[in-house]
Amino acid sequence: MKTIIGNWKMNGSRAKLAEMIADLSQIETQNRVVLCVPFTMLDIDSGTINLGAQDVSAHKSGAYTGEVSAEMIAEVGAKYVIVGHSERRMYHDETNDIVRAKAQMALENGITPIICVGETMDEKRAGKTMDVIEACVRESVPNDVHDDIIIAYEPRWAIGAGITPTTQEIADAHRVIADTLSYMGLDGTPILYGASVNVSNASDIVAIKNVGGLLIGGASLKSADLIPIIESVK
Ligand code: 13P
Repeated sequence: MKTIIGNWKMNGSRAKLAEMIADLSQIETQNRVVLCVPFTMLDIDSGTINLGAQDVSAHKSGAYTGEVSAEMIAEVGAKYVIVGHSERRMYHDETNDIVRAKAQMALENGITPIICVGETMDEKRAGKTMDVIEACVRESVPNDVHDDIIIAYEPRWAIGAGITPTTQEIADAHRVIADTLSYMGLDGTPILYGASVNVSNASDIVAIKNVGGLLIGGASLKSADLIPIIESVK
């Protein structure tokens, strides 16, 4: 079983999500399918499709205007939450410490955090990819994890760019993440690949060692794109 997660970012509508759920419920798959949607869609009846949020507060409750707590998203049905997406790190200055606090809040509320890690183009050019990824995992994953977590490797330079790393680069990144998780006592944690996944590259990417599934942006917005990807992943 692989894990396939759609990240709708700030797109879609409740009506579009209802349509997508109806389409996805027609297909047979062994894969775990999750859609991470805007907060306003989390209460929609999603059948066997799991819904997740795309961010959560690092705080439990209180005077944090505009923030939404893990307890609140759990109350409306979120089973998953993306934390530390590169767009949050880039536009909201989220550090590994903040990401770890958010993941901890998710875990305390029975929500599986999808913790994103990945290097920028500058870091890649400077030959720092492996060091950055390793530090991201060590510093973004909470201590003493006893419940499921998911890691997503998203090379930041490849997101929405229509380009992907080479097979070797993906294999190397996933090996470093798997080794780091193993060192932390978290063997078996699914490690997803994300950035410019489409129907033409999905099955090749999931065949790479230590790739446990996919985190998909643009190609998760339409059933016509997402369903063939889910069906191509065995
Ligand atoms: P794209 O698949 O559009 O490159 O987005 C990847 C992503 O950011 C998923 O979280």
